[in-house]
Amino acid sequence: MIRKAAFSDAPAIAAVHVDSWKTTYRGIVPDAYLETLAVEEKQALWEKGLSQADHSVFVAEEHGRVVGFISGGRNRASDGPAARYDGELYAVYLLKEAQGKGWGRRLVQALARDLAQKGIHSLVVWVLAANPSRGFYERLGGEKLAEERVEIGGTVLSEWCYGWQDIQTMN
Ligand SMILES: CC(C)(COP(=O)(O)OP(=O)(O)OC[C@H]1O[C@@H](n2cnc3c(N)ncnc32)[C@H](O)[C@@H]1OP(=O)(O)O)[C@@H](O)C(=O)NCCC(=O)NCCS
Repeated sequence: MIRKAAFSDAPAIAAVHVDSWKTTYRGIVPDAYLETLAVEEKQALWEKGLSQADHSVFVAEEHGRVVGFISGGRNRASDGPAARYDGELYAVYLLKEAQGKGWGRRLVQALARDLAQKGIHSLVVWVLAANPSRGFYERLGGEKLAEERVEIGGTVLSEWCYGWQDIQTMN
């Protein structure tokens, strides 16, 4: 099932976050950087995020176990083509074994409904160009808006921005 995340989900979300980063970005982001990722540090960040009322977070649960999450809120971009959109999908991560079963789409739909209730009607997401999950955003109708360089663990990578002018078309 999909449900709104609670503060007490921070450890489980952090564990999925770190695990999914390691499986998703191996071979894209330097190994040395991936090895530094620690669940305790991410947990502290999630506890902060889950305390913010304007931050929407949902989890996917299989047999009582958190296997994925999505988070979003107001768009952080202040300039460029992305800044014309109100909302942003900050992160969506599933454990490897939970991918390809429809959880990603259901999480996006839950986030889109929640943001629309908060008066947010358009959305962007940033994704590493080398991440095959780009195809997921394209499948959901995202339009490529911009491209930027980001530095992760000492390596410069290309990041693409996808946008939806109407959040209700994200399906
Ligand atoms: C990206 C992710 C959230 C997608 O969730 P998912 O549950 O695997 O995807 P779904 O099963 O809901 O797929 C929905 C649709 O998107 C398509 N899709 C999913 N991943 C895709 C991909 N990499 N390329 C192309 N299409 C993809 C599916 O085939 C499905 O299409 P359909 O309607 O024709 O059946 C998930 O795979 C994931 O966590 N990946 C690793 C982490 C990651 O990269 N996160 C994004 C960081 S920006």
